[in-house]
Amino acid sequence: MTKRTDISVRNASFADSAGIFRCIKAWPDELVPRSMSNILQNIDRFLVAERGGEIVGTIAWSILPELDPEASPSIEIQSVSVRRDLQREGIGRRLVERAIRRVSKYRPGQVIVLTFAPEFFGRLGFVRVSKETLMYKLYKGCMNCAKYSSPFTCPEIAMALPLGGARKAKGGEG
Ligand SMILES: CC(C)(COP(=O)(O)OP(=O)(O)OC[C@H]1O[C@@H](n2cnc3c(N)ncnc32)[C@H](O)[C@@H]1OP(=O)(O)O)[C@@H](O)C(=O)NCCC(=O)NCCS
Repeated sequence: MTKRTDISVRNASFADSAGIFRCIKAWPDELVPRSMSNILQNIDRFLVAERGGEIVGTIAWSILPELDPEASPSIEIQSVSVRRDLQREGIGRRLVERAIRRVSKYRPGQVIVLTFAPEFFGRLGFVRVSKETLMYKLYKGCMNCAKYSSPFTCPEIAMALPLGGARKAKGGEG
């Protein structure tokens, strides 16, 4: 697939928040809604795809500590969206790969996602995992879900990209 040169993937800034809000709101069944306030407070954990000054794709992440203080936290990929008319052109892949490069420097144990798009994440190396392995996510996130009464009946599929991050590891670029 030829990379679209009219689309750039970059760190988000506060000025992007309305565009990010619109992109996420376009997928009410697939994505957890986010308020403007929540987007602004987490803007340093967002990347955007931009075309001609317009936000056409988004991705974010959050950090999930493990109960074992020696274990590296996991990082959850969230809010992955690509505008409908621009899908299947490699933009989603660019967003996920760039986000993984960015969060890898923190040496997470794994990168996880709960998703309705398992085929897409499978193409990027994610493998299906049991939700029971994601206790922090279940207690901190899923327990407060207003859509499904239990994470075990929620149709979202849990997937992980193991990175083997070691807490004591040093270094990492940029
Ligand atoms: C999922 C989504 C982000 C994919 O974005 P995209 O830009 O269309 O994906 P890409 O073009 O980069 O696709 C990357 C690969 O996944 C494949 N793929 C993408 N969507 C797919 C799907 N629904 N089913 C099967 N394969 C898919 C592509 O064919 C491509 O395969 P390749 O390895 O041969 O290149 C986009 O469809 C979307 O915004 N969906 C709505 C929101 C959503 O469900 N987000 C995910 C929840 S976290």
